[in-house]
Parts: sequence; structure tokens; C-alpha cells
Amino acid sequence: MQASRPFRTAIVPAAGLGTRFLPTTKTVPKELLPVIDTPGIEIVAAEAAEAGAARLLIVTSPGKDAIAAHFAPQPDLVATLIARGKKDLAEKVRRASELIEISTVAQDEPRGLGHAVGCAGDALEADEDAVAVLLPDDLVLPSGVLNRMAEVRARYGGSVLCAFDVPREQISAYGVFDVEDTADPDVKVVRDMVEKPSAEDAPSTFATAGRYLLDRQIFDALKRISPGAGGELQLTDAVALLITEGHPVHVVVHRGGRHDLGNPAGYARAYVDFMLADPSYGPTLHEWLRERLAWNGEGIRGA
Ligand code: G1P
Repeated sequence: MQASRPFRTAIVPAAGLGTRFLPTTKTVPKELLPVIDTPGIEIVAAEAAEAGAARLLIVTSPGKDAIAAHFAPQPDLVATLIARGKKDLAEKVRRASELIEISTVAQDEPRGLGHAVGCAGDALEADEDAVAVLLPDDLVLPSGVLNRMAEVRARYGGSVLCAFDVPREQISAYGVFDVEDTADPDVKVVRDMVEKPSAEDAPSTFATAGRYLLDRQIFDALKRISPGAGGELQLTDAVALLITEGHPVHVVVHRGGRHDLGNPAGYARAYVDFMLADPSYGPTLHEWLRERLAWNGEGIRGA
């Protein structure tokens, strides 16, 4: 364990029911839905590992054991694939189990993101003074924003979140920052944070998008908040509480891309985007899409 790591544990809240993907999510956790051939949560685990995390702490709920199982070694499958000469496929299978240590903690009742993150507090070691939180619905591209956030925490202390500048008409779906500039246009001081404000009340168009580097004090704050937006315990409200108590909070404004895997429309965009970028699938999909979009026929399914 390197003492210089900015954080060791990356918490991934994955206890939700996945209602927007029913009926598939009756038996398949939405975190395991593939982007091309790799579950979203493996992409997020790779991002956490790349940023220096040693452990992925998955907050899960009854019936979602398949998520941790995805990261367990499967030596028999690997051996079979190698025996059949499918070395590349064997590597793909092995990757998840070698990325990062996995542990799980249960959230027994769906009481909101703040409650889910709070469930992970007791699983931290005594010397862990910060944790990362990665929401598995959100893909932040290209990866690397957590490293930038760690640099900002090293400079200013406190907690650092990732912000996206989103169109005002979409802002009410997010946690929104009230910010003040620093000399760096991509780093801002957070004066307040509010969960899912109306477009008129939103203090800015800077929204939180699923990447947090939180000081350990967040776990104490999470015990002191009341239900907020949607009647749920909100992580946003715990961050806002810390700010009122003088805790420094900054955002790194990410100017790259983002996908929301949490609903079918966002998932489809992510899938298509990854496919188009893939050398073996991209060119033929591009060609098909071009024809499909030009096609003016009846019905929704091309032959
Ligand atoms: C959660 C957070 C919200 C954040 C959003 C996108 O909301 O509560 O602050 O902006 O994720 O990362 P949800 O999309 O789960 O309603």
C-alpha cells in the first residue's frame, strides 16, 4: 500500500433496483449491462484502478450478487479458452479479477445515494482520510478526471467533485453547484450545492456528474442530514452541510464527454459511441447507421 496514494478505496453505489431497465433487471443488475462486451461497472472499476484505487467497495443489495461474481476469478473458463487457442478472449475474462480488490457492503433499504455511501463508512481502514465515489451510471470520458481531482485536493484540502456544464433546461436532473472562480478556469470554489433544483432556482449550470473525492468527514455529515429531494438522503446535502461548517469544497470542471448508462436512451448513445470508436465494429456500424438514417421507409425495424 503506497502512503502517497490520494485514496485507497473507491465506493461504487450499486444497490438500486434498475427500474428503468425492467424487465431485464429482474435478474440482471443494470451495472452488468454491456457496453460492447464489457459491463459498465468493469469500465468504472478500471477508471478507479487507473486513478490509484486499491479497492472497489461496492454497495449492493439483495439479489445483486452477480456484480461481485463478475470480478471473481474463473480459472476453468480461462483454461478452456486458452486450450481452444482463444488467448485474447481469455485475457478479457481475466481482466476484471486482476484489476482491483473487490469488497461489498449491503444497503438493505433504498434510502438514497447519501444513505448508500454512508453504508460504506464502517468498511474503511482507520488511516483512510479520503475516499473516491464513482457512480456506475456515469461514464466520464476520457478517464483521468480523478487524478486531476486528487491534485486539487492536495492543493486546497477538503473535498473535490467533478462538474459538467450542462444546458439549463436539463439542470433539474442533477446536484448543482454555486461556484466562485479561481485563477484556473477549470477549478472552482463551491459555496453551496443543491440537489435537483428547478431550472429557475439553479445557482449555476455546473452539475455534479458522478465522480467525487471526499474527505472522510463526509461520513459524519451523512449521519446528520435529513431526507431531501425525492424524500431521500442525498449525498449533495451532506456536502452542502460540510461547506456550512467551513470544509473546503472545489470542483474540477470536466470539458470532455459523459454518458449516462442509467436509462435506455443514454445507454444506447454510450453503446453506439463505443462501437463507433472500436476498429472492428466501428466502420460497419457507421455504414449501417448512415443507410439507416437516410432510409425513409415505414416501420422502425430495418430488414
Ligand atoms: C445522482 C446525484 C446527483 C448527480 C447525478 C448524476 O442523481 O444525486 O447529484 O448530479 O447522480 O451524477 P441520480 O441521477 O441518481 O438521480
